[in-house]
Amino acid sequence: MSSTWAILHSPACTAIWEVRVHEAPLWRYWGPRLPDGVVPPAPLRHERPEPSFSLHHDVPLSLFPGVGMGWFGAPALAAHRAGLDWTHAATRCSIETLAQDTLRFELIDAVADLAIAITARLDPESDVLTLSTTLTNTGKAVLDVSWLASACLPLPPEAHSVLSYTGRHNSEFVGVEDTLSRSGWRRENRRGLTSHDSFPGALVQCADGTAYGAQLAWSGNHIQSIDWLDDGRRQWLLGEGLAPGELRLNPGDSITTPEVLATVSAQGMDGVSQAFHRAIRTRILWPGGAMSPRKVHLNTWEGFYFDHDLDALKELADAAADLGIERFVLDDGWFAGRDDDTSSLGDWWPDPVKYPQGLAPLAHHVTGLGMEFGLWVEPEMVNPDSGLYRAHPEWALHVDGRPLLTARNQLVLDMSLPQVRTYLFGAIALLLRELPIAYLKWDHNRDLTHAGNRASYRAQVLGTYELMAWLRAAFPAVEIESCAGGGGRIDAGIVAQSHRFWTSDCIDAVSRVSIQRGFLRFMPPELMGSHVGACPAHSTGRMQAMDFRSGVALPGHFGVELDVRQLDQADREELAEAIARYKRLRGQFHQGHVWQGEAGDHVLWQAHGGWHDLLLHVTRTAPTSWRHAPHLRLPMLDPAQTYRVEPEQGEAREIAGSWLIRSGLPLPPMKGEAVLIYRLTAV
Ligand code: DGJ
Repeated sequence: MSSTWAILHSPACTAIWEVRVHEAPLWRYWGPRLPDGVVPPAPLRHERPEPSFSLHHDVPLSLFPGVGMGWFGAPALAAHRAGLDWTHAATRCSIETLAQDTLRFELIDAVADLAIAITARLDPESDVLTLSTTLTNTGKAVLDVSWLASACLPLPPEAHSVLSYTGRHNSEFVGVEDTLSRSGWRRENRRGLTSHDSFPGALVQCADGTAYGAQLAWSGNHIQSIDWLDDGRRQWLLGEGLAPGELRLNPGDSITTPEVLATVSAQGMDGVSQAFHRAIRTRILWPGGAMSPRKVHLNTWEGFYFDHDLDALKELADAAADLGIERFVLDDGWFAGRDDDTSSLGDWWPDPVKYPQGLAPLAHHVTGLGMEFGLWVEPEMVNPDSGLYRAHPEWALHVDGRPLLTARNQLVLDMSLPQVRTYLFGAIALLLRELPIAYLKWDHNRDLTHAGNRASYRAQVLGTYELMAWLRAAFPAVEIESCAGGGGRIDAGIVAQSHRFWTSDCIDAVSRVSIQRGFLRFMPPELMGSHVGACPAHSTGRMQAMDFRSGVALPGHFGVELDVRQLDQADREELAEAIARYKRLRGQFHQGHVWQGEAGDHVLWQAHGGWHDLLLHVTRTAPTSWRHAPHLRLPMLDPAQTYRVEPEQGEAREIAGSWLIRSGLPLPPMKGEAVLIYRLTAV
């Protein structure tokens, strides 16, 4: 039977499928760029004779592996009709070229009555392959679906380890490196939103230095697995996690999965991260069409918590403006009856005791000082002790006959209900219309349980996306920050509706170093909310100097989260200097590439910019135990160039790129917790 090749190239990657008319496309190659015109020397089955005691019909890894017809690895689909139609195998395949970089594989399973369309776009700008799958029930009865992968990706035999991220509130992006073996690897999130516990993506490293990365653009439950295959390759599946009964397709109905963003780089993990950054940057819908310099924030949470006093907040705004702060975000505690976390979520109007004339006096005071005014909301939530809950207890997610499980004293609204979205749109739109609000911090402070009599995790995510999109369409100038008890909703799905992530409620600068480095593996620095917190840090009780706290926050979207009125003169001056420094450097921190490295002896570095002009950010997180400081070896530099190496203080020097690559940049002694910044420019 004849086969053809379907090929996508980007500057750094190539994907090749072997396509035959009666089966799903076989994965032949996904890896670093092959030269134009290179194709497999022969169809795959010609290269692998039948092994002993094996099926006469060999079923290799395809783009859509099915159950029960000779594929013994993990399937892309688990579905049935009342126990029937459970075996799946494409009987027909055709390809449509939607654009030069985009193919659509149309598969028909004429036995199980399914139509599957897989869209694959290999973006020439980012080197990211974006895949998604649409499943249509072409049969005559309901199709129960318990698993539908967004993408099935091949990994080469050299893949030896996978780096994924776990964590909890106050401890996001805890990296876990697992060795890949012949046993399966699996990460699953069942918390209903993206979660602190399981970032929906990972990076895979190969023995030859090549790295692969994938992330699911979805803010709900998810599954990813990597399994060894009989031919030594591995299979990486990513998709939404579905609860029992959650997805039932009526005849004629379709479902489209969230997208997977996948890439591969011969430059290793930094190359993967850089490709992700490029792809994520194209997904953000900035007000006005382009990113404006990321404004310095003042967030009131850790400085004030629920204790809002108008005069004190106005004084805070005055002090913030004096420091050069550009956006004032009024966090939790502003709305009706909200004196602690036991009540009022859902009652989205200003507290009449704290704000007898509403928020206008504060908002106008802030804007009068030349700052933007931002407001915290947690739209998807309701406290049982609230006017909203008393009026509409049926709007909270529940399962009849089961108890309501609270977390942080709150319940979750059923976002699939149009009346809930309409109520929330009305309440938030009123605030946005009446006040000069330029920014919403959109929080979500609990996991989902008893998510509907019929499980509706998926509907919950889609309902939230819909509400956000509705508000964004009505108020296109308003930016949104995605927060979920810190970094519980950081993903490439919500990026389409937001402009910043609150990375963690842990603002301890030492803890922040690894959290931010994990974040930067998948997301660009301009989206990374990074604040200077109080000393001692509220989350850990540790004490850190102002220059260290501000130095660690510098490369992200910088902010301040403390009562700046209380700072002593020295700290105030240092913070003002840090803000001025951030404004000088943000243009370069927030564009181009990010590279990360470790020099040893608790010294970590990251570089931002281009190969010939970059900012080098060096962090020491603990006192040295070495007599002499380590040299920073900077493998990404151009060996043919000489670099002007300019510390913020001290003399600039010229050093050969090849020296910096192989021997490294000598560092001066640093305090136990310290940040240094250099600018490197090719001369
Ligand atoms: C959790 C967020 O991460 C904090 O920054 C703050 O907004 C609180 N919620 C407010 O309740």
